[in-house]
Amino acid sequence: MPPSVIAHRGASAHRAEHTLAAYALALDQGADGLECDVRLSRDGHLVCVHDRRVDRTASGRGVVSALTLDQLAALDFGHWHDEMPSSPDDLVRVPSALPSAEPHARGLLTLDALLGLLADTRPDVRLFVETKHPVRYGGLVEAKLVAALARHGLSRPRSKDDSRVVMMSFSSRAVRRMREHAPRVPTVLLLDRFPPGRRDGTLPPWADHTGPGVHLLREDPGYVARSRERGHDTYCWTVDEPRDVELCARLGVRYLATNAPASTRGLLAADLPL
Ligand code: G3P
Ligand code: CA
Repeated sequence: MPPSVIAHRGASAHRAEHTLAAYALALDQGADGLECDVRLSRDGHLVCVHDRRVDRTASGRGVVSALTLDQLAALDFGHWHDEMPSSPDDLVRVPSALPSAEPHARGLLTLDALLGLLADTRPDVRLFVETKHPVRYGGLVEAKLVAALARHGLSRPRSKDDSRVVMMSFSSRAVRRMREHAPRVPTVLLLDRFPPGRRDGTLPPWADHTGPGVHLLREDPGYVARSRERGHDTYCWTVDEPRDVELCARLGVRYLATNAPASTRGLLAADLPL
């Protein structure tokens, strides 16, 4: 089975990351899942922002955890990455090929709004939520995440397979907290290096899946099979290059996070020389 295509920060190669426009385009492009990062605002709201500061992606400056929801909502998160459609035909054929000019599509994205989008889309689409650490509010992030999932009826799925949400973090402690708060929400332990003693595919008991960066699979392709032998699927990030897409497909990666869902899906559909 080919990997599921997960839109990393939305279709972020073509729309400003973590905007509603980026996620709408990802869904138009047939993504199987959506990835987002979450942080807490100063007044305790989960917002979808990757960096500790807003400076790179918004029309302002400051640390996310030091800004209130109202202050964050006053910023433009779309101005830095407007892209014109690839052809004039797209303006007619694909409404969301329009630049993300609509204010609602380029403003701050809250996790609540993204969960609302998830509720309105195909029921097989999954949302992969990454909690960022270390942060000022520590474990409150996972507690707030579970509360947000509960508000949307997503915190207690019948089984892990039924869950529409997957929780991820580079912080093993955060993944453990999530398991304690919401035992049936699946988890991914993200890896940017192999932790000592974990090259054999073992994971701590609170992690369901392993989440290596693609650089780790280039270095050690056998890791996917060893993880599978231990009962763990692989979620690999961030996979945009054709040779990496081919590598992941060949190794049996289960979830592939990409900034460009349409072209990655095209590469997977093509008859790749596996
Ligand atoms: O999907 C996991 C990946 O997003 C982790 O890295 O820095 O893009 O959040 P980063
Ligand atoms: Ca992320």
